Amino acid sequence: MTRQATLKIPRPTDGDLAPPAAGADRFVPGPGAHRRLRDAFGRFATGVSIVTTNSAIGPLGMTANSFSSLSMDPPLVLWAPARKSRRFAAFTEAPHFAIHILAHDQRAMALHFATQGHDFAGFDTVESVTGVPLLAGCLSIFECTLEAVHVGGDHAIVVGRVQVVQTAEGAPLVFGSGRFGGFDPHLVDTHRPR
Ligand SMILES: Cc1cc2nc3c(=O)[nH]c(=O)nc-3n(C[C@H](O)[C@H](O)[C@H](O)COP(=O)(O)O)c2cc1C
Repeated sequence: MTRQATLKIPRPTDGDLAPPAAGADRFVPGPGAHRRLRDAFGRFATGVSIVTTNSAIGPLGMTANSFSSLSMDPPLVLWAPARKSRRFAAFTEAPHFAIHILAHDQRAMALHFATQGHDFAGFDTVESVTGVPLLAGCLSIFECTLEAVHVGGDHAIVVGRVQVVQTAEGAPLVFGSGRFGGFDPHLVDTHRPR
């Protein structure tokens, strides 16, 4: 039998904090610090993905930057839909879904599937053998079967087992600090001495 320790760890308050580094914001996450926490999380620049599935009311898509690769063997990926999303039930219950990694020129598609999920008009799609809409022009597409759904606070962690992969060379769309951008490896000077 495994026993789970019930440690009582006292939560800090803003008054307990060491002063922040110059120009930095230092705080304890809580009801009054929602925006600041979101901003801090948002400093982690990510790629942008669109998750698609075939729901009870037809094809469904959703823009997500919570995508991550998880495991090579078996091949697993994850993403995190918000519980408050109207698309939450459809995405956490779908046995088949596809995750598309967007290219730098697909910002409009990212915005489109952030606003709504059902309108695929104007986008080139083919249907996978499991009936999932696959969008054209993406850098990678991972066709998945649902492996697990875990609790993750106000989100869920959806784990997919990758069944089919399609991938092509290209520059990715990037999202950081609430803005879309591109990836420029030349911004990092690898020749400068330390
Ligand atoms: C770049 C970007 C990334 C996003 N990533 C996520 C995500 O990982 N999880 C999520 O639940 N919503 C994410 N969203 C928000 C959803 O795309 C969508 O806007 C939200 O679900 C709208 O609510 P609804 O589903 O109730 O229509 C993201 C939006 C954008 C623009």
